[in-house]
Amino acid sequence: MNRRLWLKSTGAAVAGITLASRFVSAGTTTNPASSIPIGPVRLSLNENPFGPAPSAIAAMQANAARSCRYPITEGTQLVATIAEKEGVSPDQILLGSGSGEILEAFAAHFGGPGGEVISANPSYGQLVNAMVRKGSRAIGIPLNDAMEHDLTAMAAAVTATTQCVYICNPNNPTGTIVDSTALREFIIAVAQQVPVFVDEAYLECCDDFAANTMVGLVHKGYNVTVSRTFSKIHGLAGQRIGYGVMSAELAKSLQAGMTGGANLLGLVAAQTSLDDENYIESTRLKIKVGRDALIEVLKELGCDYAEPQGNFAFFHSGVPIAEFRPAMQAEGVIVGRPFPPYLDWCRITIGTPKEMTVAHAALRKVLG
Ligand SMILES: Cc1ncc(COP(=O)(O)O)c(C=O)c1O
Repeated sequence: MNRRLWLKSTGAAVAGITLASRFVSAGTTTNPASSIPIGPVRLSLNENPFGPAPSAIAAMQANAARSCRYPITEGTQLVATIAEKEGVSPDQILLGSGSGEILEAFAAHFGGPGGEVISANPSYGQLVNAMVRKGSRAIGIPLNDAMEHDLTAMAAAVTATTQCVYICNPNNPTGTIVDSTALREFIIAVAQQVPVFVDEAYLECCDDFAANTMVGLVHKGYNVTVSRTFSKIHGLAGQRIGYGVMSAELAKSLQAGMTGGANLLGLVAAQTSLDDENYIESTRLKIKVGRDALIEVLKELGCDYAEPQGNFAFFHSGVPIAEFRPAMQAEGVIVGRPFPPYLDWCRITIGTPKEMTVAHAALRKVLG
């Protein structure tokens, strides 16, 4: 605990919203669609302010007037493109309203009383929470010292009543990635007993996507599902498009339980963004530059951090997040919510260079 910090943050919190309003233009970027016109910069939800790709914005604009039509062909077309990219057949792809809908559909299918879902703790909660709502028991396995999934402990926790194992890679909120060879071996062993779900929402942000994706194991027929989203690297969170890659049988079963349907503009934006590989790669590099610069600031401030591979970082502020959050907000930055049991750690999303300038200054002021 940093007492100096606490004194500063207390003072800053008193200033509150008044100070925050001074940061009205902090989020403005060269891409008008991603600007945050009013208020503090929002670095709390792992959004990607570099997106959508200009080509995807143009596609949405060009199709806006067609919004009176149901998207009959666009979904099929997107599924075909995704299937080709993932190296599986189209009937192995399930589109969702964000990847969140895939997590929910999977949970609804496998969850129920008398069994348990195993995940890391902390990790992204949507699938586990949905299974718990169905009556499953949640088993949270503490992260290892590097704040990565402890695959050995997770494998050891599997029992005859385990309903599924959830792996989030990179993990949210820590941003850590698990060793790819170890994860592959884990899935090959565990998926013989229970279904494994690998959430790769942030994997396109990492340094080596190809080496780390587990989609090849779906192709090989293992009992594993991989999810991806257009919300992160593609910067299309507001359009709500994601997908799962799984066995054709499972996709058919989950499809039967889906209640939503993708929207036209989301579909055309996703389709266009997939083709715009240069833009997506440039976004990945911008996120990496922002991540590296943030780490330098954290080092300067003497804060421990988990090795980040997503579009966010998780660091040890040394101050209860319940106090650190308002202190940062008073400096014009909204950071992530509490992630127990790491209650004096903070998750912060990588924003635009302008947003990060505000964030660095806020960190230096609150923690320096
Ligand atoms: C790890 C992870 N998976 C899935 C999601 C769901 O995102 P979406 O429904 O926008 O695809 C999120 C959202 O932040 C996430 O962090």
